[in-house]
Amino acid sequence: MNNTLPNTDQAPANEPRKSQPFAVAQVASAARVERGNDLYETPACAVHALLKVEKIPRAVWESAAGGSAIVIVLRATGHFVVGTDISEGRDFFQEREMPAGTACITNPPFAKADRFAAHTLTLAPKGALLLPLGFYESVKRTPILEGGQLARVWVFRNRLPGMHRAGWSGNKSSNAVAFAWFVWCRNHNGPPTLHRLTAEGR
Ligand SMILES: C[S@@+](CC[C@H](N)C(=O)[O-])C[C@H]1O[C@@H](n2cnc3c(N)ncnc32)[C@H](O)[C@@H]1O
Repeated sequence: MNNTLPNTDQAPANEPRKSQPFAVAQVASAARVERGNDLYETPACAVHALLKVEKIPRAVWESAAGGSAIVIVLRATGHFVVGTDISEGRDFFQEREMPAGTACITNPPFAKADRFAAHTLTLAPKGALLLPLGFYESVKRTPILEGGQLARVWVFRNRLPGMHRAGWSGNKSSNAVAFAWFVWCRNHNGPPTLHRLTAEGR
């Protein structure tokens, strides 16, 4: 992987970003044409919750980094993070390698989540994707859900803050969707275990 980062990803963790943290839209509320690249930013509490329950290596690749909401939290907690996004010319599906021992953590565009999970597994020993809980209910996703490498599903006990599309100027609603971290491990072989976690400070 080319470790040359787009400018927004190289900025220090405390530098203001071009899009607002915590601003993102309800998953199903916008028409596809309006959603563009599906930039819905992850609330910091969701990342902190993952860090409490999963062992995350120092090196992390945020493969759909958007406004760097996840990158900021990971860097602030001591991780070395490479953040890339299609909006800055880095299509994850075109990536062919990443440094050894690097985990992939992202909140992918939902429409491409299956492919993100599968491609993550080809590149990284471990991948954690923040996804609507309903991701687990699917026939077409059977290969990625039952292929043996989905190791853990961490379901939030409480609802995450409303995720509004970047640039959303309508009402800020609370989140209508239950979310979970889906963790794939290349060295896992078997069914996933189911767990619960809490987004603190809600
Ligand atoms: C739901 S947003 C999440 C942004 C960020 N991960 C976060 O959690 O705040 C999805 C992001 O995926 C990016 N994206 C969409 N397709 C992509 C692709 N093929 N490769 C890389 N990034 C992609 C979009 O530009 C958008 O920033």
